Amino acid sequence: MTDKKPELSDAMKKKLEPKKFTKNPILGTKFTIAISSAKGGVGKSTFATNLALALKQLGCKVGLLDADIYGPSVPKMFDINEKPKSDGQKLEPITKYDIQCMSIGFLADQQTPMIWRGPMVTSAIKTFTQKVTIIVSTPQEVALLDVKRGIKMFDKLGVKILGLVDNMSFFTGDDGKKYKIFGEGGVKKTAEEFQKEFLGEIPINPEVGKCGDEGKPIVEADPDHEISKIYLDFAKKIKSTYL
Ligand SMILES: Nc1ncnc2c1ncn2[C@@H]1O[C@H](COP(=O)(O)OP(=O)(O)O)[C@@H](O)[C@H]1O
Ligand SMILES: [Mg+2]
Repeated sequence: MTDKKPELSDAMKKKLEPKKFTKNPILGTKFTIAISSAKGGVGKSTFATNLALALKQLGCKVGLLDADIYGPSVPKMFDINEKPKSDGQKLEPITKYDIQCMSIGFLADQQTPMIWRGPMVTSAIKTFTQKVTIIVSTPQEVALLDVKRGIKMFDKLGVKILGLVDNMSFFTGDDGKKYKIFGEGGVKKTAEEFQKEFLGEIPINPEVGKCGDEGKPIVEADPDHEISKIYLDFAKKIKSTYL
């Protein structure tokens, strides 16, 4: 008898290694960016739709996959009411604002049982472990707890984290004063703690929510708006660094 642990075979060691991120995980694409928060309601869909539109403005060919199987927002935010065409094998994405979109919301209505939703998008999300991720959070303590968990998970999976975004970081009142509703600097601090890039802040602006609700995100509805310029700056940074 010996206390020695059995040696792992080379094949087994390889299997246990975290996957390296590749640039083109989804067929026909050059680069995939996942928008994550490990939490709901902090602005992922708003960020994803506006970033997609900003990248398009910079001349990129963009697709948008709404991977939220429980609360898809792309049909509403892009005002898409039709169903995707299918040849029986594949689904055709729906193009709106020059962006090819796919969402579980095109297929499942409110009544579709949750149990069916998972398998419907699983194949599209299978590529998840090979993506580059942007983490969006509000600066609130409870949101940041989830962010920290998310960072650890992506690191473990070998998914490169492109950076962290502080969404709804402050509100500017009629008096011109900045109100930091969810606290201050939490997302930046978290980025520093985990040695990730802090990409910047997006203030709370009612126009952002209004445009999303009306089915035309702010970057498309009003490209010269100060908030649109923030999204465009993110897109420029991403384009020049990665694309
Ligand atoms: N910068 C912002 N300013 C104002 N409202 C925002 C901003 N970002 C997001 N929202 C609003 O916050 C709510 C949640 O955003 P959403 O993108 O749906 O979050 P998630 O996809 O993470 O659940 C929406 O009503 C959206 O319009
Ligand atoms: Mg969402």
